Amino acid sequence: MKLKNKVAFITGGTSGIGLESAKLFQAEGAQVVLVGSNAERLAAAGNELGGKALLVGADIRKVADIERAVEETRAKFGRIDVLFANAGATTVAPLEAVTEAYVADNLALNFTGTFFTIQKAAPIMTQGGSIIVTTSFLNTIGYPGLSILAATKAAARSLVRTLGAELAPRGIRVNAVSPGAIATPFYSKIGLPDNVLSEVATSITQRIGLKRFGDAVELAKTALFLASDDSSYTTGAELVVDGGMTQF
Ligand SMILES: NC(=O)c1ccc[n+]([C@@H]2O[C@H](COP(=O)([O-])OP(=O)(O)OC[C@H]3O[C@@H](n4cnc5c(N)ncnc54)[C@H](OP(=O)(O)O)[C@@H]3O)[C@@H](O)[C@H]2O)c1
Repeated sequence: MKLKNKVAFITGGTSGIGLESAKLFQAEGAQVVLVGSNAERLAAAGNELGGKALLVGADIRKVADIERAVEETRAKFGRIDVLFANAGATTVAPLEAVTEAYVADNLALNFTGTFFTIQKAAPIMTQGGSIIVTTSFLNTIGYPGLSILAATKAAARSLVRTLGAELAPRGIRVNAVSPGAIATPFYSKIGLPDNVLSEVATSITQRIGLKRFGDAVELAKTALFLASDDSSYTTGAELVVDGGMTQF
């Protein structure tokens, strides 16, 4: 029970990495707050957690929604011990396809949303608290068609250092988990037809040292390490979970 009696606030908790982390955190004793923007997926995720999680519908692109989600958490539990800023999504857009609106939307979800999730939650976080941000292999390697997502993830990696320094005097640690290619619904939402997606998956797999996609559970276990006191002397760091993709 590594998170016994802890309150864990998870954005992007309705699917993939966030949902697997929510299940693991709950099994380790946490009271989970699940945040998602899609009401159906939120309800389904709530069922998967046996109806024990607080479910909050919020669009992370809107600061007012983030504020309301934090306020609902404060009203119910009074505090946040673990914050997992994990929500993220994009569509593939090569250089010539990127528009001003595309940049604004990607920034709003994948960077600004992450920043304001931390800003709004920090005042009710406890001494010894842990913040985890999901970054990406994209801030280490250049992958065509994902320039804006990659830039937002590199910016999120930077935040982990700066906000880690700002929050360290309060005993709050800030770390990143950097997934490689993980088998989640993320890929079904990036706007590629199935046949192209399977070609992309084959070519990515060849780049991975362990020659397979990761499982969301493997990310959840790393998030649990960062969430718990097992990582009590780790802050400002990024733990890479990518089967060697960015290392070899
Ligand atoms: N899978 C990979 O290979 C991979 C690699 C590198 C990094 N990552 C990162 O890992 C994180 C989790 O992704 P995943 O792979 O688990 O994908 P996923 O299964 O698609 O999960 C994405 C989550 O983000 C939430 N989300 C999307 N837009 C939102 C919005 N506007 N407001 C609130 N929540 C929103 C989704 O919830 P709703 O749609 O229900 O709102 C969902 O819970 C993301 O930050 C992603 O960039 C993934």
